[in-house]
Amino acid sequence: MQVRIHAIADSAGVRVLELRAEGDAQLPSYEAGAHIDVTLGNGLVRQYSLCCRQPGGDAYRIAVKREPQSRGGSAWLHDEATVGMTLQIGQPRNAFALVPEADMHLLFAGGIGITPILSMAYALQRRRQPFQLYYFVRDVAGAAFAAELQSGPLAGRVQVLAGLTPEQTAARIRTDLSTHPVAGTHVYVCGPAPFMQTVATEAGQFAVHQESFGAPPANADAETAFTLTLHRSGRQVQVAAGRTALACLQEAGVELDCSCEVGVCGTCRTTVLEGTPLHCDAVLSDGERQANNCFMPCVSRALTPVLVLDL
Ligand code: FES
Repeated sequence: MQVRIHAIADSAGVRVLELRAEGDAQLPSYEAGAHIDVTLGNGLVRQYSLCCRQPGGDAYRIAVKREPQSRGGSAWLHDEATVGMTLQIGQPRNAFALVPEADMHLLFAGGIGITPILSMAYALQRRRQPFQLYYFVRDVAGAAFAAELQSGPLAGRVQVLAGLTPEQTAARIRTDLSTHPVAGTHVYVCGPAPFMQTVATEAGQFAVHQESFGAPPANADAETAFTLTLHRSGRQVQVAAGRTALACLQEAGVELDCSCEVGVCGTCRTTVLEGTPLHCDAVLSDGERQANNCFMPCVSRALTPVLVLDL
């Protein structure tokens, strides 16, 4: 689907883009937490969470932080994208949905991780469901959407916490969690990997839902080679040390959808029939990891010499 960049707003290293459909076309609706693939002018495909106040209609809003170590996505959107330019986007997809039956939703955002959390907060407010949003930032002046959060309709449910050390952050999260019962309370977190790990650790007893964009997941033991057996054809594909399973499958002529190639979008999810994957993605829930019946071949590897795939 083609969209046009309708407006750009820059502040403190974060660029907010408003994307509109061409002509009178409407954009597909979506659930809070969803993201879209954006094909950039340099050919790269990147995932960005939708952070609109209201899903659907004729505009999407995404926010992009300039990453110093950009692999070409954020740098292109910051340096090359201009109002009026067209971009290709994919259908909204959601691997980070709210759980409607929760009694309480606790939303934790670290830095630019605010983007999916913001649309979740608006959705919960529209549904009149109880929630609290904790937004951890380095400084308020450099925090995306801080003014909107502090003075807009969400203000009464938001705490912006600036300049905390990792220890203070952990203590603060612990304190916030301690006032809520474990049963019925769902915790949602998005942000840098260390922040997400802190929330996941402190909220160990709670139902935790997480999404990570931008930062590649922890690297696997890339030194270990393994074999993929393709169940439907009986073929075998060797994954050498230092290569990804996805690259080796593609090289062998296996057609597999993929997008981010860093384990954060879920597009390449593949069913595992036998063997134990070494999960290195940021998509699967703890339960899905333990079930070991699928993996993301763009980053994940194998704990057993062979993985049998439903391919
Ligand atoms: S292509 Fe995105 S998780 Fe593998």
